Amino acid sequence: MHGVWYETAVFYEIPVHAFFDSNGDGIGDIAGITAKLDYLEWLGVDCLWLLPFFPSPMVDGGYDVSDLTGVRAEYGTLDDVRALLHQAHTRGMRVIADMVMNHTSDQHPWFLESREPGSAKRDWYVWSDTPDKYPDARVIFVDSLDSNWTWDETAGAYFWHRFYAEQPDLNFDNPQVRAAVVDVVRFWLELGFDGLRLDAIPYLFEREGTNCENLPETHAFLKELRAAVDAEFDERMLLAEANQPPVQVVDYLGDGDECHMAYHFPIMPPLFMALKRQHTNDIIEAIKATPPIPPSTQWGLFLRNHDELTLEMVTEEDREFMYREYAPDPRMKKNVGIRRRLAPLLENDRRLIELLHGLLLSLPGSPFLYYGDELGMGDEYLLRDRDGVRTPMQWEPGPTAGFSTADPASYYLPIVATPGFDSDTINVLNEMEDDTSLLNQIRRLLDIRRKLGVFGTGGFELHASDDPAILKFSRSDATQSVLVAANVADRTVQVEIAASMMAVPGQGDDSGTFIDVIDAVSGEPVPATIDLGPREFRWLIRRPD
Ligand code: GLC
Ligand code: CA
Repeated sequence: MHGVWYETAVFYEIPVHAFFDSNGDGIGDIAGITAKLDYLEWLGVDCLWLLPFFPSPMVDGGYDVSDLTGVRAEYGTLDDVRALLHQAHTRGMRVIADMVMNHTSDQHPWFLESREPGSAKRDWYVWSDTPDKYPDARVIFVDSLDSNWTWDETAGAYFWHRFYAEQPDLNFDNPQVRAAVVDVVRFWLELGFDGLRLDAIPYLFEREGTNCENLPETHAFLKELRAAVDAEFDERMLLAEANQPPVQVVDYLGDGDECHMAYHFPIMPPLFMALKRQHTNDIIEAIKATPPIPPSTQWGLFLRNHDELTLEMVTEEDREFMYREYAPDPRMKKNVGIRRRLAPLLENDRRLIELLHGLLLSLPGSPFLYYGDELGMGDEYLLRDRDGVRTPMQWEPGPTAGFSTADPASYYLPIVATPGFDSDTINVLNEMEDDTSLLNQIRRLLDIRRKLGVFGTGGFELHASDDPAILKFSRSDATQSVLVAANVADRTVQVEIAASMMAVPGQGDDSGTFIDVIDAVSGEPVPATIDLGPREFRWLIRRPD
């Protein structure tokens, strides 16, 4: 068998307001996702990740939560959530939710009470008489803020926030706060979610003289949380959102006693760099810098998500390079990153989009697809904050994009109008019918990936190549092995397959004879040396007996 479910799952990220509007008010909702489960099943994803669907003033896209165990009225009810979970589970699909615990909305009753001098909840948030504490903590939303402290008139004190001032940080030094947060986790897991994405998890605690990230206290709390989850639930998954260097990220998996998964932030920018530099050195460096992870833990791989393409953790030089190459209009920049979707970033070049998916689906980890990227959806980067990558899903051609029966002028955000990315050009309906579409190609790749469980749990080995444009690696276990060869350059390269295949356990032949190898996608036989066209990738397997 191939591991625990999340080790082989393909995840699909959904901002609830963006997917499908079931009741004609111009805002996507929970019942809308349930209505589109046929599509998600057809596509072949295993687990949905719902972005925050809780009551919220929506200052930060719902990551400013004013009721941690409620459902935002525009999105539906708890019963709608139950129905979605039930319908998904009936189809063998799983669903995880976002768990925002570092902070709440400033409209959360806890904060409203905390502001009152002398109140019982005073110590639930981080207050100070001066804005001078913790000066070594960076500001994350650099485009909007220059301090992590904001003065509150009612409280007569400054409060601490790592994100917008509308998102005060909870005080995790307070045991009541820790207990309340564990109760929220319990609430959603009891309702039936298969896991939780722990948002902004490096920032739970503050300590003078540190950058207030990845502190030992944070890890101690996560171990407590994991123990509580293990004691009460089976087969649930905790996923760390920690945008940190590799050695710090891996700490969130502990010794297999913290989170089950963590996003692999460090490998993402190198995938984009490789296409422009036409060599794979940065990818190889990121792979080599990735420490081994404990059994039954897994990386979460992604190309894009609902945030800016973050460049916080790359070198100054790489950051400038990425901005130069991928943000030709300075307004595409957001905070320390680029607020664009995958297809526009890659100039809508099918070969590049497929190449990055080929790697996303075969490198060690579980892939996370961002809704609409399977269609090659575009963005509107001039919209506020990161809204440009959160526009309505394009289901059909025409002015409504099949997203809602409401007047498109009343949609929560406009449909992408950029020529080449408009709903007449990019939509599910047309792409489903066209066998050569990106959507059908992604679906085929997902189908093959499902059959090659080794992509989820197999060993990983890099194979040397004389040509720096080539990335060659194998994924293998006792029963399967795949050789992946990718050409990131805009020229044809020659790749020696025979020697690599022999180095793959289960492939080759003891006598040194090259065995029958086929392309996993086309089923065509492959010679001992192959030409890889510009930006081409291949998944190669032994011909089934
Ligand atoms: C995470 C989310 C991001 C949000 C932030 C604060 O980074 O992905 O969208 O703004 O946390 O909650
Ligand atoms: Ca609606």
